[in-house]
Parts: sequence; structure tokens; C-alpha cells
Amino acid sequence: MAKKVQFGSRIGLIAATVGSAVGLGNIWRFPAEAQSNGGAAFLILYIICVLVLGIPVMLAEFSLGRGTNSDSVGAFRKLSPEKKWWMTGALAILASYLIMSFYMVVAGWTFEYFWQSLTGDLYAGMGNPMDKAGLSLGFKEKMGDYVGTTWKPLIVTYIMIGMNLFVLIRGVQKGIEKMSNIMMPILFLLLVIFASVAMTFPKAMDGLAFFLSPDFSKITPEVCINALGQAFFSLSLGMGILITYSAYFPKQTNLTNTAITVASLDLLVALLMGFIIFPAVMSFGLANEGLEGATLVFVTLPEVFAQLPGTQFWSVLFFLLLMVAALTSTISLGEVSVAFVQDHFKTTRLKACLWVMLPLTVLSTLCSLSQGVLSEFKLWGMNIFDFLDTVATNFMLPTAAILTCIYLGWGAPKGFFRKELSNGGKLSGGFINGVVFIVRYIAPLLIGLILVAKIL
Ligand code: ALA
Repeated sequence: MAKKVQFGSRIGLIAATVGSAVGLGNIWRFPAEAQSNGGAAFLILYIICVLVLGIPVMLAEFSLGRGTNSDSVGAFRKLSPEKKWWMTGALAILASYLIMSFYMVVAGWTFEYFWQSLTGDLYAGMGNPMDKAGLSLGFKEKMGDYVGTTWKPLIVTYIMIGMNLFVLIRGVQKGIEKMSNIMMPILFLLLVIFASVAMTFPKAMDGLAFFLSPDFSKITPEVCINALGQAFFSLSLGMGILITYSAYFPKQTNLTNTAITVASLDLLVALLMGFIIFPAVMSFGLANEGLEGATLVFVTLPEVFAQLPGTQFWSVLFFLLLMVAALTSTISLGEVSVAFVQDHFKTTRLKACLWVMLPLTVLSTLCSLSQGVLSEFKLWGMNIFDFLDTVATNFMLPTAAILTCIYLGWGAPKGFFRKELSNGGKLSGGFINGVVFIVRYIAPLLIGLILVAKIL
């Protein structure tokens, strides 16, 4: 069942994989995690997690995909047809599908805020920017009112699903790769512009001091757990994405270099976000306001923009940045299921895309409504959106990642992992031994501990 389709160029391959990794995880999860977990202390732990665990686990997934040319389930099936390891791939597909269902809703909100920035509606009637308390309340109410309504958030969610469908139907080279080649340079350019502007803010240095001077007394087991969770989510590990994308890597691709490049660029985006957010919130008296996801993006940052000259211009650029980041990630989440359906049901790409996206529309509708009319409907005390987020992100992802490591370390045909890492023996070195050791022993143990800690 060898797949002929491949990324057309090394740049395209990197752009697509980085596009998958860079998403709302870097832009709205990272600053919030850094703020509530001690700033620089968290940053150091996060970098260690990316380098020591993230890259080896990424290499495990790359090996499976590139070595088998198959989707997430097919990869395990091809290597171990007699065993039930394919269930690991199925778990990863299910996790990515559930994540996609609520991610699409948030992606829709970014589209709405982009549109409202463009038309100026977002800042209409916001009063005097000097009245920060009123401003904050204004944006909070606006956001609460907006996400709680029924139709408006649904329409933008469907628009985002439509955009995903458009790119996915066009296929790997003409859709995913082409889109990533255009969008990723735009995303990096916007980030650099924002970071440069943030450096000119009055208290930029205070913000940087919080972000970059570590206070090691802040490091607790909980901070370690959060740093690892953030690293895995941000690098798209345990979601089947890296197995699926690496099936489109040419055989001669140097997996190690690719993993290091992708992880470094993903880290760079998180760092740039820190360079933007902390100077901004310190300088505009918002340091004590919520930086967690939705509040940061839809309340705190609009407050910053309202106080800047050129409010609308910066707001349009920022929500464009967010939309691009969300789009490249949702597309990679979608490709996991599309590749699976296409391979296993031997169907056309168009049909596979429709089979994946139509049921998703129902799930995303439920997630969107759970912010309003369905907010009273609870599963284990959570609304549908939060329930899917918790189950998929906190439990399914780490479980899929642990099982993938155990499989590569112990269950896969002997020598498979090393052969893939070394491109059939052409590359060698202590690095490969280190990666194999981490995937065999350290990663399953540490991720397992985190999973247990989350459950307890
Ligand atoms: N890795 C993607 C993100 O950070 C899922 O949003």
C-alpha cells in the first residue's frame, strides 16, 4: 500500500510540519502557562522538555510514518499485522478528531474577531482607553455575549470547516504544502513585527525580566507536569499528525535534522509570544489580568490594542496571525483522519474529506452550543467543549504517546527504529543511541508519571 504522494520540497515539508506544531498552543496556551508557573522557571523546564523528551518522541512518530508510508493505524498494522498495536494509532486518530472538534470553534472565534477588527466593530463604543476598568469590562462582556449566542459562532465555525475542507480536498502538495508555504512566512513575519513593536513599550524590560529571569524556587512537580504537557501539545505529539505527515516525507529525509528544525521553530514562536505578551501586559497595566487562553486573546490583547495608536491596524494583524496559526493546525488534525479514511476504505480524497468533515460539523456544533444554549448540559461536571478538551488533551494524547514509545522501544520489529533514524545505516552517532534509550525507558516512564498525576 505504498503511498506515492510526498511533499514536493524540503521547505514545504518543514513549513507544513511547523505549521501543524505552531498553533493556539504556542499563542494562547504558552503565555498563560508561563505566567501561572513562574515565568522563566517554566520556560527553562519547557525547553528541557522539548529537547530531552519532545524531540525523541517526535522522532519515534516520524520513524513510524516515514518507515511505513502509512496513516496512523496503517503504520502499526503494517509493521505488526498479527498484534493489536494498531489500537495505539486508532487512539491517536480519535484524540486528534476530538481536539479538532473544539479547535474549530476557537478558530471560528479568531475569524470573527479578525472580521470585527477589520470593520472596526470590535472597538465601537469602547469609551475612553484611559478608563481601563471600563475597557476590560467592555471586552469581557463582548466576548461573553458573543460566544454565548447561537448562530454567529456557528457560522464562523462552519466557515473554518469550509476552509479546511478546501485545502484538504486539494491534497498534500497542492493543498497542505502550498498553503503552508504561503502562510508560515506570513506568520513569522507578523510575529517579528509584533515582537519589535512590543520592545518599544514603556515597561518592555520589566516584562522581559519576568519572562527571562528564573526564580528556581517556583519549580514544583506541578510546574514540571505543566511544562511537559505544554511541550507535547505544542509539538503535536500523540495526535497521529507526525506519523501522518512523515508518511509524505521522501525516503532520504534526515529525520533528526527535521525534528530539531521543527522543534526549534516551534520553540521560537513560543519565545516570540513571550517577548510580545509580557512587555505588553506590564506596559499597559494588565499584568494581573487573565492570560489564560480566551481571556488573553479576546479581552486582554484588545485592551492593549485599544491603547495603542493604530488600534484597528494592530488588531487586524494579530487576529490574522491567530487565524493562520489555527488554520495550519486544524488542517494537520484533519489530515490524520482523512489519510486514515482514504487508506482504509480505499476511497477518493474528496469522499474521505467529506466523510471526515461532515460528522465533525455535528461535534463542533455541539462544542459551540455548549458555550450558550447547551451550557447546562454537563458531562462529569464539564460542558461538552471542556469535556472533550480534557479527555483528549489530558488523557488520550499522553496515552497514545506512551504506547507509541513502548511500541518503538520494545514491540516493533527489531532494528526498525534504528534503521529509520539512521536512514538505513547511512547516518550514525551517539545521538541515535540517546534517542533510542529515551524512547525505550525515559519517555514512557515520565509521561506515565504525568498521566497518573493528572488522574490523581
Ligand atoms: N500543536 C498544535 C498547537 O499548538 C495543536 O496548537
